[in-house]
Amino acid sequence: MANNRVDNAVIYPGSFDPITYGHINIIERALKIFRKVIVAVSHNQSGKKPFFSIEERVSIIKEIFRKEKRVVVEPFKGLLVDYIKSKSVDTVLRGLRTVADFEFELQMSLANKKMSGNVETVFMMTEGRYSFLSSSIIKEILSLGGRAEELVPDVVVRRFNERLKERKTDIVSWE
Ligand code: COA
Repeated sequence: MANNRVDNAVIYPGSFDPITYGHINIIERALKIFRKVIVAVSHNQSGKKPFFSIEERVSIIKEIFRKEKRVVVEPFKGLLVDYIKSKSVDTVLRGLRTVADFEFELQMSLANKKMSGNVETVFMMTEGRYSFLSSSIIKEILSLGGRAEELVPDVVVRRFNERLKERKTDIVSWE
């Protein structure tokens, strides 16, 4: 084989608003397969209004992986395929939580392939204990005073509470 692909880097894109243990689990498992994981934090959120700024989403993930030099965290704007080209990486990693994710993921991977023939998408099943999880669920739990220690790292809870306090607002304004 001319190119040992598993020794390559992989790009794990998402909006990560905020990152959860579900995402972290995917990244940690990917590190066992790939040499480097580039966590690509998207500016655009398909119509979703982000709670955390792009800078803060990036900085939270950097803080979580500060001891893992093989995790690189970067923001990206525009099309994922353009970002991928700019990094000279052609493998994208996506997590599948349940079959409900499949249709959208299939669409996205085929669209990316259509736009850039070199791109390959690799899927990893999200661990069962996190399969119900989403960033929105975390924001709802935290904004209503629930406990999320088993779902997100402390830094997420801390930063969320700081932002919430600053804004002195409630869930309705960012939904
Ligand atoms: N654990 C926990 N939650 C997870 C998860 C996991 N392993 N995987 C996904 N989720 C959650 C996310 O937190 C997110 O929750 P939310 O909807 O409450 O915010 C939800 O599942 C959807 O995640 P995902 O499908 O990764 O969407 P996203 O908005 O995070 O990222 C992009 C989508 C950014 C990758 C995609 O829109 C993109 O590539 N955009 C760039 C523009 C582009 O190229 N568009 C054309 C693509 S064809």
